[in-house]
Amino acid sequence: MKRIIIAIDGLSSCGKSTLAKDLAKSLHYAYLDSGAMYRAVTLYFLDNNIDYNNAEAVVNALDNIEIHFERIDGQNRTFLNGKDVERDIREMRVSEHVSPVAAISSVRRDMVKQQQGMGKRRAIVADGRDIGTVVFPDAELKIFLIADADVRTSRRHLELAAKGIDAEWDEIQNNLLERDRIDSNRADSPLRQADDAVVIDNTLLSEGQQLEKALELANQKISEVDA
Ligand code: CDP
Repeated sequence: MKRIIIAIDGLSSCGKSTLAKDLAKSLHYAYLDSGAMYRAVTLYFLDNNIDYNNAEAVVNALDNIEIHFERIDGQNRTFLNGKDVERDIREMRVSEHVSPVAAISSVRRDMVKQQQGMGKRRAIVADGRDIGTVVFPDAELKIFLIADADVRTSRRHLELAAKGIDAEWDEIQNNLLERDRIDSNRADSPLRQADDAVVIDNTLLSEGQQLEKALELANQKISEVDA
């Protein structure tokens, strides 16, 4: 098996994690959900009343945060200090604070270092905002995923409902647009398309169709590494 790194970046809820998981499964690669790490840090700050505008409190808190992933029954689960927080980190209260938290340089430095460690052996599909630009600038395949904002909102609405998380359509859309704004305009590692990324617009694509397109690109890159 040829081991490449596949980086998938894009705006909130554009289908990155669905594509990344599907690709990882098809290629027997690991999956890295970088957003889950920023969500776990945010959950820790909220649950422990850490004022994330206080730089010293943030740095001290980071020392007490351990995040890892486990695969349980074929599902990727996020653990924060030994506890499965996969569901808690998807709640709206976390979504409301995660972008300001992810804009803090000390938080990013810590997460990026861990993410780079997870990608050392390659054979990984990672999704986020800065994967192709900062975390793995040497990734063999970079995909920049885009989709219409209403379609993104509807998909997230369905996804949350399936998890039993109650949220209004408008509340979800406002949150997505606000996160898009903060993530794209922050000083440290703003979301942007890497120069060598391939754009896929999945507004009108099914899950299977987007996977097919991405797999074609991945197999092409793998065969080039092979050659
Ligand atoms: O699933 P969704 O696209 O809504 O978001 P996510 O991937 O769970 O990421 C949550 C938040 O974490 C984003 O809105 C960003 O603020 C931050 N994030 C980041 O700054 N860098 C990354 N590589 C991944 C996420």
